[in-house]
Amino acid sequence: MAQPKILLTRRWPQAVEDRLSRDYDVTLNTDDTPMTAEQIGAALGDYDAVCPTVSDSLPAALFDSKMRTRILGNYGVGVNHIDLDAARAAGLTVTNTPGCLTDCTADLALTLMLMLARRAGEGERELRRGDWSGWRPTHLIGTKLSGKTLGIVGMGRIGIATARRAQGGFGMKVVYYNRSEVDPAALKGLEAERLDTIDDVMAAADVASLHIPGGGANAKTIGAAQFEKLGASGMLINTARGDVVDQNALIAALEAGTIAGAGLDVYDGEPSVPEALTRMENVVLLPHLGSATLETREAMGHMVADNLDAFFAGREVPNPAG
Ligand code: DGY
Repeated sequence: MAQPKILLTRRWPQAVEDRLSRDYDVTLNTDDTPMTAEQIGAALGDYDAVCPTVSDSLPAALFDSKMRTRILGNYGVGVNHIDLDAARAAGLTVTNTPGCLTDCTADLALTLMLMLARRAGEGERELRRGDWSGWRPTHLIGTKLSGKTLGIVGMGRIGIATARRAQGGFGMKVVYYNRSEVDPAALKGLEAERLDTIDDVMAAADVASLHIPGGGANAKTIGAAQFEKLGASGMLINTARGDVVDQNALIAALEAGTIAGAGLDVYDGEPSVPEALTRMENVVLLPHLGSATLETREAMGHMVADNLDAFFAGREVPNPAG
């Protein structure tokens, strides 16, 4: 029997490309450039499975009844770049990769917190420019994280992992907002207080870290009113999705000193990053690196492969999205 035809829209770690190539008729995007919506639309007519990433966009208009594709094996946990309702209505199965990137993404949230609080980006830029004039008591004075309050917005897997690192490693107090009650077993050993609203968390936090999914109802959840609550010494960390923050309101809050700074790994409309942000010293900017370790990127690929294997063997997929 012919092997199912699958398309990977970007290059994946070699080990996973090799695994998939053994079991499937795989097409690789060998030059690793982003695919256009038209190319992905055409692929839906040609392939049994399409495996997109966060850098692809799959709006409702791409899904029609002439599709050959039956499964979208998303390489990543976030699926806000796929119109899930339209995909399902068109009979597609959509899978994602939850869990395997939790540790790495939480590590990166802490990286951003530390870089921002300790002005590490500013210091590195100064040194590379050749402007460092030597040690002095008042040079690049930052803020201690120990003893400060971390406010988590979205206490899912990554929010909890971030809270554990901040509390266990840095002695931070943790407050959080989560729409639904969090399973007490998942919070075991963590001292964390659930507050009633996101605004309550922003008001209580020295550092607010966002861990809610992007898209739909979560768009612009954090805007001018929330920055007012976070206050002039408050710092915002975003490793979730750019669109959960009102980016213009963030720039305005940073320019006005309404908040002290921001550590960002994600942007609304990435890879474009507002020029205003790139000019600010009190902002740490990373290029969507949350899951970027070899171990995690391989694990993500193997999860996609497990989902495809189950689907094409007629079994239930282990990780249905949404
Ligand atoms: C995810 O898995 O959602 C990461 O942001 C990369 O897509």
